[in-house]
Amino acid sequence: MSVSIKSEREIGLMREAGRLLAHVHEELGKAIRPGMSTWEVDALGEKLIRDLGCVPNFLHYNGYPASICVSVNEEVVHGIPKKNRILKEGDIVSLDAGLIYKGYHSDAARTHAVGKISPEAQKLIDVTRQSFFEGIKMAREGMHLYDISAAIDSYVSGFGYGIVRDLVGHGIGTSLHEDPQIPNFRQRKKGVRLQAGMTLAVEPMINAGGWEVEFLADGWTTVSRDRSLSAHYENTILVTDGEPEILTLI
Ligand code: MF3
Ligand code: CO
Repeated sequence: MSVSIKSEREIGLMREAGRLLAHVHEELGKAIRPGMSTWEVDALGEKLIRDLGCVPNFLHYNGYPASICVSVNEEVVHGIPKKNRILKEGDIVSLDAGLIYKGYHSDAARTHAVGKISPEAQKLIDVTRQSFFEGIKMAREGMHLYDISAAIDSYVSGFGYGIVRDLVGHGIGTSLHEDPQIPNFRQRKKGVRLQAGMTLAVEPMINAGGWEVEFLADGWTTVSRDRSLSAHYENTILVTDGEPEILTLI
């Protein structure tokens, strides 16, 4: 395993890839409303990415058929957009998106409320988002990779939620998925020593019930095995010798 350290030039390109993706997520978030199909969400996302002069990195990745992963309620990740899957009031929807700018990848996910949602669903969204921020407090030069994992785990476990184990975060740069893998749960080892210039996609996926997931017959859609609600929050970050820089937030 080797974790790439980006040069100043590469960091500049990663920053721009991240900034553009943050804009895409802002626009997608504003567009979400009851009555919209998951296919329309994907079409809008792909247009936003292409209008910025970028390429959607998920499209055709290992055969994935769309640009945006749109995962509703008990769907954890990799939901395939469909014309007949209509968002309705009270749903939660996780949007995972990524793009390539001048050869450099960004990757980020948000879970949104569709109209008015239950307090329980809102809490799951909020805890999932906060777990990312708890995790990245550890993402600085001199700390170790699994300090991030442990910080996410201890925060989320306090709420009794299930942390998805079958899918993890990852390094990112000239490829969507680079070393290292970044679990969202505590590890026995310390993991690699973090260094300034590493770019990482940290992405807790949290179920309101148990941590177990199943993969549906479409080969992609991942659901919580107990069909409890699931939320996802992800940003591409840059490790520095101080606070991490979050590249995919405006
Ligand atoms: N954000 C996802 C990840 O981090 C990527 C989606 S996989 C794809 O791995 F196939 F849909 F592209
Ligand atoms: Co990712």
